[in-house]
Amino acid sequence: MNNLREPIAPAVATQSAEAFAHYLENTASRIDVKTEAHALQVGARVGISRPHESAHLHVAGEAAYIDDLPELDGTLHCALGLSPIAHGRLTALALESVRAMPDVVDVITGADIPGVNDCGSIIHDDPILCDGEIRYVGQPLFAVIARNRDAARRAAALAKSVATITEAAPVLTPQKAHELGQYVLPPMHLERSTNEGGARAAIDKAPHRLKSTFDLGGQEQFYLEGQISYAIPKEDGAVHVHCSTQHPSEMQHLVAHALGVHSHMVHVECRRMGGGFGGKESQSALFACVASVAATRLRRPVKLRLDRDDDFMITGRRHCFWFEYEVGYDDDGRILGAEISMVSRAGHSADLSAPVMTRALCHFDNAYWLPDVSMHGYCGKTNTQSNTAFRGFGGPQGAIAIENIIETIARNLGRDALDVRRVNFYGTDSNNVTPYQQTVVDNVIHDLVGQLEASSDYRARREAVNAFNAQSTVLKRGLALTPIKFGISFNVKHFNQAGALVHIYTDGSMLVNHGGTEMGQGLNTKVAQVVAHELGVSFSRVRATATDTTKVANTSATAASTGADLNGKAAQDAARQIRERLAVCAANRYGGKAEDVRFANDQVQVNGQTIPFEKLVGEAYLDRVQLWSDGFYATPGLSWDREKMQGRPFYYFAYGAAVSEVVIDTLTGEWKLLRADVLHDAGKSLNPAVDIGQVEGAFIQGMGWLTTEELVWHPQSGKLTTHAPSTYKIPTANDCPPVFNVRLFEGQNFEDSIHRSKAVGEPPLLLPFSVFFAIRDAVASVGSSSCNPPLRAPATPEAILRALDAVQAGKA
Ligand code: MTE
Ligand code: MOS
Repeated sequence: MNNLREPIAPAVATQSAEAFAHYLENTASRIDVKTEAHALQVGARVGISRPHESAHLHVAGEAAYIDDLPELDGTLHCALGLSPIAHGRLTALALESVRAMPDVVDVITGADIPGVNDCGSIIHDDPILCDGEIRYVGQPLFAVIARNRDAARRAAALAKSVATITEAAPVLTPQKAHELGQYVLPPMHLERSTNEGGARAAIDKAPHRLKSTFDLGGQEQFYLEGQISYAIPKEDGAVHVHCSTQHPSEMQHLVAHALGVHSHMVHVECRRMGGGFGGKESQSALFACVASVAATRLRRPVKLRLDRDDDFMITGRRHCFWFEYEVGYDDDGRILGAEISMVSRAGHSADLSAPVMTRALCHFDNAYWLPDVSMHGYCGKTNTQSNTAFRGFGGPQGAIAIENIIETIARNLGRDALDVRRVNFYGTDSNNVTPYQQTVVDNVIHDLVGQLEASSDYRARREAVNAFNAQSTVLKRGLALTPIKFGISFNVKHFNQAGALVHIYTDGSMLVNHGGTEMGQGLNTKVAQVVAHELGVSFSRVRATATDTTKVANTSATAASTGADLNGKAAQDAARQIRERLAVCAANRYGGKAEDVRFANDQVQVNGQTIPFEKLVGEAYLDRVQLWSDGFYATPGLSWDREKMQGRPFYYFAYGAAVSEVVIDTLTGEWKLLRADVLHDAGKSLNPAVDIGQVEGAFIQGMGWLTTEELVWHPQSGKLTTHAPSTYKIPTANDCPPVFNVRLFEGQNFEDSIHRSKAVGEPPLLLPFSVFFAIRDAVASVGSSSCNPPLRAPATPEAILRALDAVQAGKA
């Protein structure tokens, strides 16, 4: 305990501050230092690069994650017994031998859950512990609670031998599920036609046609901190759950349902996550529920921390997709009509598959005007982990489909893909309405891509790549520029709300609490900056605290990149109310008008006098002024008709583009990213350093998805065979390109977002499409200029070799 409470050694704190200063220096060219110096001078606390609020703790290993919390006396540990079979019926569980294992205190099955045995976030088709139906290898059948973690895991490992299961044939691929018409949700359709016959007629009439399929893999979130919940029983059947989750309110509701108690009996808290990436939006629930059921039943604190392999085996991840499409286009490559079926691997339950598919369908247009489209989304029910949110939330899947189509069209026409992209970009006038009927009013893609094309030297490098390939037989280079347009807001209107609570203490320091969660993305930093800015005080006065369901109620998930947009506005609302009260107090004491009082640089300007901020706060307390406030925000102007799939689901769009150059070894299929240039639109960034970090991180993460990260389920047993870092390869520092030019686009949000910034969490994950298409470009260079390599994603060396073989055999 002491260890955590003690202040960090000053040396460490200084070191990290120095390290950050160093970082800033090195990134000075990417961040406008002059503007920032000016902003600081005039007292701005937003729009400036400052370290993550916990950076000094992160680098010193002092930031407390849930497993670092001091364990209470009598804490028990939980582990889950997992199904070894993918599909069938559980007919018997011989748990005596499990109970007899050393240090085991209790074993819980689905029948022991006092409330509802379900943790489904939208549709209630997600048993916490097996209800008889065996759905996938890794499904939790029972929970062991033991005196220590090791004992719990040893006992849980007996699952293989104690479960009697009548086996049935598993369905493992989205294609198979689609063939069987087996879905977790009814199919979805999104259509728009500008001519009578719709997309079909437009394709039939088009000068050129293209019909093909595309295979796209899934992705494991691989948060460094695995799923964990620590449940502490409280009086009268209540429970306090420390849960690593992006969605404390949903955890509260689901735990309450599982316990059969009111929500007010469940207190969920999360100071920070060691990464979430979407994987802790809904899927932290199972663990929160099991830990809470055990804790309340045994009246002992219970911790459930997953082993990495179990985390892979139990939880879902990014949906893999299979696409089947037909498009018609003209001689310039302009797409006239498109029909596409998207089939996702949803896994055994619905989870977030519906909104993920909705976002995929709403991002098939990416940055392009598609006059006639007919899209169909199918969420295939498979005997695999239930897939869920992952950075981009279906958006990347939908958008890469059209990019693959554009690349193919460009090769068919013998044109540079950038030129084909340009003729298809959204414009103004009538060609700025999305297939779901939202008008694109903030399009900056022409300008942004133009700037990047110039700064990356795209055209000259295209020539250089061609020249290199002409003289190099084994090594081949490839180049690609890909754009993005990404819709910001939850596709479900009512999620777009947030609350905050700001306290000012009599010494002039402040505590801010809001509904968002911190997962490394810097949300707390941005929200604290907003509060500091609003009250004109230095950042060090403001402290963000743990997300807590007893402080701000009914919060939305920190997801869809909306964290700062929503919670920043809510916190600003709270801070503004306090500032207005302070201004009245100041005018009462010092004269002048309240509206003329100014707060900046930790001082208050009132009626020609300057007084320290904390002095006014102390006086306001004596004058009995309320020094805390709640705040609220709801995004204006949104609408969505789920049946028709039409409306204005997004408040605005974030844009970006990237150019990547790769080299591949045509004998081994190995490749390397040589250089990447990124221009990303974060509006008027609240914190350029944090935003650049998000862009860089998302770029490398997305690159991993499309290249090295491969999920393999055994084709007979249905077991996920890539369930550890030994077989599942995320990118490392070594995979970062030696030249990585990341810049933020100069501009501001067209809409009245928080200080005109734009959400930045997810959109940049689409930037490394350019890496994938650069690899595809390099592969194509071994064939004729119009060949289209049948490269699937992830482009592992094996996939690259297969595509090379096909091209060389003239099969592309
Ligand atoms: N950055 C870090 N370091 N860790 C994370 O888990 N999650 C991403 C993104 N950036 C994530 C991250 C995802 S999936 C989302 S939706 C956003 O952050 C959520 O935070 P925001 O809304 O505050 O941007
Ligand atoms: Mo992010 S996938 O919306 O949690």
